[in-house]
Amino acid sequence: MRAVDIIEKKRNGNKLTEDEIKFMVDGFTKGDTVMDYQMSAFNMAVYFRGMDDEEATWMTKAMLHSGDILDLSMIKGVKVDKHSTGGVGDKTSLVVAPLVASLGIKFAKMSGRGLGHTGGTLDKLESIPGYNISISQQDFIDQVNRIGIALIGQTKSLVPADKKLYALRDVTATVESIPLIASSIMSKKLASGADVISLDVKVGSGAFMKDLDQATKLAELMVSIGKMCGKKMSAELTNMDEPLGLAVGNSLEVIEAIDTLNGHGPKDFTELCMEVSAELILDSGLAKSHSEALALAHKQIENKEALHKFVELVEAQGGDGSYVLNPDKFTKAKYVKEVVSNQDGYVTKIDALAIGHAAMYLGGGRAKMDDVIDHAVGIVLNKKVGDYVRKGEPLAYIHSNKEDISLESKCVFDAYKLGKDKIEPKLILKVVK
Ligand code: URA
Repeated sequence: MRAVDIIEKKRNGNKLTEDEIKFMVDGFTKGDTVMDYQMSAFNMAVYFRGMDDEEATWMTKAMLHSGDILDLSMIKGVKVDKHSTGGVGDKTSLVVAPLVASLGIKFAKMSGRGLGHTGGTLDKLESIPGYNISISQQDFIDQVNRIGIALIGQTKSLVPADKKLYALRDVTATVESIPLIASSIMSKKLASGADVISLDVKVGSGAFMKDLDQATKLAELMVSIGKMCGKKMSAELTNMDEPLGLAVGNSLEVIEAIDTLNGHGPKDFTELCMEVSAELILDSGLAKSHSEALALAHKQIENKEALHKFVELVEAQGGDGSYVLNPDKFTKAKYVKEVVSNQDGYVTKIDALAIGHAAMYLGGGRAKMDDVIDHAVGIVLNKKVGDYVRKGEPLAYIHSNKEDISLESKCVFDAYKLGKDKIEPKLILKVVK
């Protein structure tokens, strides 16, 4: 086989075989038979010609087998995992994981750190003093068997093909290809070994996928890949035309997750946590219908079992559980400043990406992999889409450790769009199963 023939075949719009795809992925990962410039051309051919579900599944499998696959067979019971394509203010895992684990479902999640406006799940958890994200694979498995839940960092040996391929796509304008995104995400999800997977595909200005059509195609492809690999799959398409919940920033988001576990979370965030939990409960076989699963999810909040499972998780991984029971203990930023409205009107849109950028400029996210995160800083929205605001009223509060926040204030102010008519925001746009 020769890389050039495979590139030409895809460039001409033909379907590749499993062996051809495996040849490209293996040869590129090892760096011997497929050179960077050939893989770049291959990615561009896929970008323009696409892949069908079968080809995308072969691509996923080839990437999956490029490194370690977690063997979770030592964990008893149904293992579940969730993934979000990344949104501003998304702390869903911090609520969903302890909630489903409190029902006896095994939640074993490995997260990547990644770059972003605010930190990822791992950075959020690390705002709890002592929380350790790097435990050994054996301890990870033992912990899930003992308390039903573990949330740790991805090991370096998980899907090395993706790391190399993503770095190449990033500099060759081939990130936005649905089969390449789907195989990248699904190879990592499948390598983590869960039986049931829930995907949250964000749609809108603050997300990777800007429109519902494209997001639906991505969700359908990922669900199809997962099913072809024997997994129970569901995907929610959710609106990212405003940040999720009110808090954006690491410890601020953990505090909001704790409020939600106490039953006092923001409406949109609570709704998403309940929906994702219900899908996982249903697919794990603990309920016969979606409404029964939803009722179970609500019960775990009301009886505080989800909250206590979160305390158990934090303590099992070396963290101080008293922070969860008393969130006032979290270190606060030095300054809290208001961003006020200069007119009356209904909030019609909040540019999530702009709010994310403001949080990053405050020090809450990383622009480079080695940037150090300030866990205390961020933004708390006072008004969401659909709310009425009067001139002089705060739109949001900026939590900062520096005095001059003119750039961040402008970002937040500009992110808000006001109009005369009230909009009813819709969070869950579609479910794909
Ligand atoms: N997230 C991933 O993990 N991979 C992609 O290709 C895009 C988003």
